[in-house]
Amino acid sequence: MDNLLNKKILFIVCGGVSAYKALETIRLLKKNKAEIKTILTKSAKEFVTPLSVASLSQGKVYDDLFSVENETEMDHIALSRWADLIIVAPATANTITKLSQGSSEDLASTVILASNKQIFIVPAMNVRMWEHKSIKDNIKKLKDFGYKLIGPVIGEMACGEYGEGKMSEPIDILKEINSFLSNNQKNKKIKALVTAGPTNEYLDPIRFITNKSSGKQGYEIAKSLSNRGFNTTLISGPTSLDINSEINLIKVETAEEMFKATQENLPADIAVFSAAVADFKIDKQNKDKIKKIEKLTINLEKNIDILNYVSNHNSMRPKLVIGFAAETTNLDDNAKEKLTKKNCDWIIANDVSKKDSGFDSDYNEVTIFYKNSQKEKEKLSYKKKSDLSEEIVDRIVSEIN
Ligand code: PMT
Repeated sequence: MDNLLNKKILFIVCGGVSAYKALETIRLLKKNKAEIKTILTKSAKEFVTPLSVASLSQGKVYDDLFSVENETEMDHIALSRWADLIIVAPATANTITKLSQGSSEDLASTVILASNKQIFIVPAMNVRMWEHKSIKDNIKKLKDFGYKLIGPVIGEMACGEYGEGKMSEPIDILKEINSFLSNNQKNKKIKALVTAGPTNEYLDPIRFITNKSSGKQGYEIAKSLSNRGFNTTLISGPTSLDINSEINLIKVETAEEMFKATQENLPADIAVFSAAVADFKIDKQNKDKIKKIEKLTINLEKNIDILNYVSNHNSMRPKLVIGFAAETTNLDDNAKEKLTKKNCDWIIANDVSKKDSGFDSDYNEVTIFYKNSQKEKEKLSYKKKSDLSEEIVDRIVSEIN
């Protein structure tokens, strides 16, 4: 498993009968030449000893938030920055609940809260606990945070019951981590460009025309692309959203600025145009604030179509150009027309007349129209924009690789 070589792994062991499997996982990671630091939660120490973990990992074992904070060499932030990735195994029901609430009551939860790296959760618990609605809801939250799940699997548990909840086997954990690292390595060389949010078109220095785009859809797509290792640039109109520092964020305000930033970031391999770019700009922006008058006539002129420019570029057209279509009527016909007219590979169409969907919502429902595929179109049902983005990026990954 070549991809583990020299990878820095922060391994968090929680208190459960399966903690013995954590020891074997650490041993295998070490055998594959990963560098390991470990955190033991208070209850983990009831199941495994710091000495056994230190001997197997040949690395430092941390357990106390306060002693770490006093340590000049590595505090909880430095510890989370040091790691290339974090594994929590076994992840107990208690830890899953704490993490889903953003708790920072001990070293393990504080490091995870402060982390900007991929976190893998390896659950282990009784089948009834695993099937409990509260755990299901908490797991969903963790997935929304971008954490990845390994297992659990179905089998006989330590308590004698049978079902889903058993911790994955150490070798399977290694395979998942190795495949994640291998995909990330491949994708790092692939540049993805995403536009998001609205643009502001100014009448005078303080007034502008804009639209209801929040940027959520585009930001979620950028996050999903970056989580898969793509070298991601996000060109964003004005929004109130944050994004992790792995993503190259370029903030712009007007369509012209968005166009310029896009030009400056070509070539790219993948381009996703989710921004709601104003189709028009004010033909002559007033230098000073416009005075109150009886009637004001504004002349609008066409803005440059950024998507059109990129999709028709003769030397720097990305391999995969994906446009969005915001429609209120005749979704299929309009989307198909845009697919051809704008020379896209895919058009992702959303009906923006629906309540709590599309513009300024956490949810969306889309249909993807493909140019060169056996499937003409594919509907992705109503769900959170974060989940939808994962599904869109799943399709991008299969198309590009
Ligand atoms: O930002 P959110 O609140 O999360 O909402 C998401 C969204 C509804 C804005 C998003 O899902 C969406 O539909 N984005 C495209 C909105 C739009 O402007 O659609 P359009 O049909 O007018 O444009 C078609 C395509 O051309 C789009 O990819 C658009 O980015 C692009 N375009 C349009 C005009 C222009 N001057 N330059 C462009 O690049």
